[in-house]
Amino acid sequence: MKVFAVVNQKGGVGKTTTSVNLAACLAAMRRRVLLIDLDAQGNATMGCGVNKAALTESVYDVLILNHDLQDVMVDGAGGLKVVGANADLTGAEIDLLDLPVPKSTYWTLKTGSTD
Ligand SMILES: Nc1ncnc2c1ncn2[C@@H]1O[C@H](COP(=O)(O)OP(=O)(O)O)[C@@H](O)[C@H]1O
Ligand SMILES: [Mg+2]
Repeated sequence: MKVFAVVNQKGGVGKTTTSVNLAACLAAMRRRVLLIDLDAQGNATMGCGVNKAALTESVYDVLILNHDLQDVMVDGAGGLKVVGANADLTGAEIDLLDLPVPKSTYWTLKTGSTD
């Protein structure tokens, strides 16, 4: 399994466009693709043909309520699977402050190393 993270603090630099098109191209090449939208704007979700307003569960439920990705993912266009995001994610940063973060996770986030 390969994981691609498209991340930049600056808006309008092409993160969503890159993510949606990369996912669509890989799916067209018959790779199994899961796109996880981590932006409360939900533009990547909509770009994959999934209505963010109609999501019953979203990436918020995965991050905060520990729901399984498999239970949250829905079918997107072109054979993609999508874990969608919407405005629910706006409160996640605040909710995350109250959750205990395992030391190993913190270390990986801080250093990029699992050693
Ligand atoms: N490679 C590109 N060339 C030209 N315009 C682009 C390119 N990638 C994205 N854009 C345009 O830039 C704008 C911002 O892109 P977007 O993917 O929404 O950025 P972000 O997700 O980083 O906020 C959009 O109007 C998009 O169509
Ligand atoms: Mg975006």
